[in-house]
Amino acid sequence: MDRLFVFDTTLRDGEQVPGCQLNTVEKIQVAKALESLGVDIIEAGFPISSPGDFKSVVEISKAVTWPTICALTRGVQKDIDVAAEALQYAKKKRIHTGIGTSDFHIKYKFNSNQEEILNRAVAAVKYAKKYVEDVEFYCEDAGRTDNVYLARVVEAVIKAGATVVNIPDTTGYCLPWEFGDKIKFLMENVNGVHNAILSTHCHNDLGMATANTISGVMNGARQVEVTMNGIGERAGNTSLEEIAMILKCHKSLNIETQINTQKIYSTSRLVSSLMNMPVQANKAVVGRNAFAHSSGIHQDGVLKNRESYEIMDPTDVGIDKNSIVLTARSGRAALKHRLNVLGVEVENGKLDEIYEAFLKLADRKKDINDDDVLMLAGKERIEKQRIKIDYLQVTSGVGVKAVASIGLLIANEKFEAAASGNGPVDAAINALRQIIKRNMSLQEFTIQAISKGSDDVGKVHMQVEYEGIVYYGFGANTDIVAASVEAYVNAINQFVK
Ligand code: KIV
Ligand code: ZN
Repeated sequence: MDRLFVFDTTLRDGEQVPGCQLNTVEKIQVAKALESLGVDIIEAGFPISSPGDFKSVVEISKAVTWPTICALTRGVQKDIDVAAEALQYAKKKRIHTGIGTSDFHIKYKFNSNQEEILNRAVAAVKYAKKYVEDVEFYCEDAGRTDNVYLARVVEAVIKAGATVVNIPDTTGYCLPWEFGDKIKFLMENVNGVHNAILSTHCHNDLGMATANTISGVMNGARQVEVTMNGIGERAGNTSLEEIAMILKCHKSLNIETQINTQKIYSTSRLVSSLMNMPVQANKAVVGRNAFAHSSGIHQDGVLKNRESYEIMDPTDVGIDKNSIVLTARSGRAALKHRLNVLGVEVENGKLDEIYEAFLKLADRKKDINDDDVLMLAGKERIEKQRIKIDYLQVTSGVGVKAVASIGLLIANEKFEAAASGNGPVDAAINALRQIIKRNMSLQEFTIQAISKGSDDVGKVHMQVEYEGIVYYGFGANTDIVAASVEAYVNAINQFVK
């Protein structure tokens, strides 16, 4: 079996997605989950882009032992200096530098020419080599770069010391065989290609990221750049879980990774919950319906023999169908066990707080599922906010006007207001806006319930625009109107001074 290296960029390309930003503590939590999942490289951030990214790379470097920690830079010295500083505590470190190589980038982004870009590429690698042995070079927009020129760049950066060369399909444009042919061309035409590893980094704009990645691997790439749940810029990146399961299901490909597939589900839930980014129900491998058989014919077939309709065993991705369902009678130990299975480590003090919130929820909801548990573990983020909901009362129904009264605690001072609206959420938000008198507008509002019961926790995502900037808010509650107001308040907390 040939070994394939898994480079996870959930915390860099994934975290770039608006609304998915994590704080340093949350990033460490994800990094540790990725470590136990078995990824080889964690791209921890883009240190020059913000002090927060810099700090996260520093802290992840301290917290994680086995995977290589990678920091992204543009092909400029200042970026590389800052990345090297951020990586100082990493046990194994890599600088990921690069430049655009397609005509679009060379002409319009850099107003330059191929020779100059080639020289800048070589200079960036040589400069990064002064700090670290392991230097990865990305040829941005390689998917639309002429193969002959691409081969010249790849050869030159390998000669300059690049240990890995990344061939991103930045715009998600390539067809699978086209991308495979590109890797094949490089494998056959670059002198010294065996002194480095070629990497894929495919975006999903046309829904071909996974197919392109596999095609790249079949033609010689030995590193794949992926994210959990496929999150990433625009339509996202190649999903880690899809690649890992394709290689597990198709042993004849003769390629193996070190991913412990049984940790896929818990890592997926953790990322989705911390980033407030729902996983689509029909998402391959980790979607809610990925193993649900609804038609009678399928159900009958699965009952007779699971393999009639299932190519993967759900337990292989860590879906434990017999997992203990948590109810109001479950104790702390069961809750702690479930949190650990989901990749959340908690100390006793914090466990007590979560348990208290758990009991309150269990009073309102019969069975507590994994999403609820993760929501409870993250509740503290909401509770630490400056503006809090003290109470909310809403009357609505058929033939009556919806009215709401609300009490808010702003830096511990109480404010109250009442208003009507065209429905309960509208009335509650109108009341809230009488207290927070800012010129803000609701841009997007999504409500999602996770399971089937009418007692389920509703999750609300909102985008609120204020002074030209869009802020993302999240709320979760068995009362959907309360969840909506929580989400609105969560967004306001991010811009209110
Ligand atoms: O998509 C892309 O080209 C990237 C590079 C910065 C690696 O994310
Ligand atoms: Zn990318």
